[in-house]
Amino acid sequence: MPPGKIGVMSTHIGAKPGEIAERVLMPGDPLRAKWIAEHYLEDAKCYSTVRNMFGFTGAYKGVRLSVQGSGMGMPSASIYAHELLNEYGVNTLIRVGSCGALTESLKVRDVVAAIGSATDSNMNRARFDGLIDYAPVADFGLLRTAVEIAERRGVQMRVGSVLAADAFYTDRPDLYDRLADYGVLAVEMESAALYTIAAKFKARALTVLTVSDHLKTGERTSAEERERTFAEMVEIALETAIA
Ligand code: HPA
Repeated sequence: MPPGKIGVMSTHIGAKPGEIAERVLMPGDPLRAKWIAEHYLEDAKCYSTVRNMFGFTGAYKGVRLSVQGSGMGMPSASIYAHELLNEYGVNTLIRVGSCGALTESLKVRDVVAAIGSATDSNMNRARFDGLIDYAPVADFGLLRTAVEIAERRGVQMRVGSVLAADAFYTDRPDLYDRLADYGVLAVEMESAALYTIAAKFKARALTVLTVSDHLKTGERTSAEERERTFAEMVEIALETAIA
């Protein structure tokens, strides 16, 4: 039996069974998890400090909700997604993160919802014996709710596919241009694994991102701007999680 089910923490999350809510927001940065808990959750309690990858449970507008850092990249995010879904009964994961824009139709600070995720990761090739190019996609219900909430709040959220890249620094910017020609909006580093693992565990997942840097124009956001746009996106994610 997995450890969470017999009353002890999972391998990488120091929570006892029952300490994590069914709905979880997942920022990459554990300090963002702390920031979300402090700014938005009532009665937030930290349930895990393992590797400083903080997790908190509290309530948002009276609904029980957790926030768990995922770390950067698919190997790290996969560990937390897998343990949350497999060992703690989580059924809804919403990643809140940042991305680099691949197309001039996006500006820094824009909010993007990832409907699907292309990837250069080998994880799903290994998973499907290299025979299938699995298409990781967002949960349609969560995506529809997020779009409605963004519209209600007057936020123009772009919906489209993103690239989940293994490397932050690429030697192949030409491939990024080609992906942009095929409609891929932005690059981040976790969504393909999150969508795949959620599908495996029959859970719902969505990735919402703010554009922190622009790979075509070289523009970047300041730390202050990042905090402001991050808050806007987090509020959309929180409202989506409790809808
Ligand atoms: N590449 C990958 N992930 C990112 C980027 C980027 O340029 N910006 C924010 N997350």
